[in-house]
Amino acid sequence: MEPITIAMPKGRILEDAIALLNRANIPCPDLVESSRKLIFETDDHTLRFILAKPTDVPTYVEYGVADLGIAGKDVLLEEQRDVYELLDLNISPCRMSVAGRIDQSTAFSPRIATKYPRIASTYFRQQGEQVEIIPLNGSIELAPIIGLADRIVDIVSTGTTLKENGLVEKATIASITSRLIANPTSYRLKKRQVVKLFEQLKSVIGGQGIWNGDPVKTSTF
Ligand code: PRP
Repeated sequence: MEPITIAMPKGRILEDAIALLNRANIPCPDLVESSRKLIFETDDHTLRFILAKPTDVPTYVEYGVADLGIAGKDVLLEEQRDVYELLDLNISPCRMSVAGRIDQSTAFSPRIATKYPRIASTYFRQQGEQVEIIPLNGSIELAPIIGLADRIVDIVSTGTTLKENGLVEKATIASITSRLIANPTSYRLKKRQVVKLFEQLKSVIGGQGIWNGDPVKTSTF
C-alpha cells in the first residue's frame, strides 16, 4: 500500500504538531529541524512526512504530492488553495490583527504593511476603508516605526513583538489555529487511511472537527 504523505510546517507550529501526533498515537519519526533532512518515513512505511515552509504546505497538498497537511488558518486564508479543511487541531493559537502606533493619526488611504496582502485587502474592503497594501516578508512591526506604513496586519501570539516595538492592537480580524487539510483526490481514493488518521487526531483534541462527511474548502474568515 502506498504511504500517506503528510506535509508538516517547519517553524513555530512544528513542535505543537509533533506533540499532537504523539498524543494521537500516530507514529512520527524524529522530525528534527536541525538536521537538514526534509523527508521522513515510518519504519512500517505507512506514513511519510515532509517538512515544508508553512506557507507552502497547502501548495504541496493541492498538487497531491502530500495527501494531508498541517497548516495555520492564516496560511489557508491567504493562500486560498484547492484543499479540504478537515479538522481544527486547536494548536498554536494566535490571532490576525491590525496594529499600529498608539499616537497614529488617521490618514486618507493609509498604508498597511503585511505578509498577508489577501487577508488585509479583504478585511479593509469589508470595512469600507480604502487602503494601500504594502507586502513585506517579515519583521512587519518595523514598518510603522520607521514610517513605511501607517498600520500593519499580522499575527499576534504573545503580543511581545508589538509591545517591544511600541505598537498596539487596533482590531482583531480572525482567530487562528492550525488545521488538518487534505488533497480532495486523496480524500476520496485513500479515504480509509485518511479517516483513520482523522479519527485518531479527533479523539485527542476534544471534537472540534468540522468534518461531517462533506469536508469544506477554506474561504473567508
Ligand atoms: C510572527 C509575527 C509577529 C510575531 C508575533 O513573526 O509576524 O512578528 O511572530 O508573535 P508574538 O506576538 O508572540 O510576539 P515571526 O516570528 O514568524 O517572524 P517574522 O517577523 O520574520 O515574520
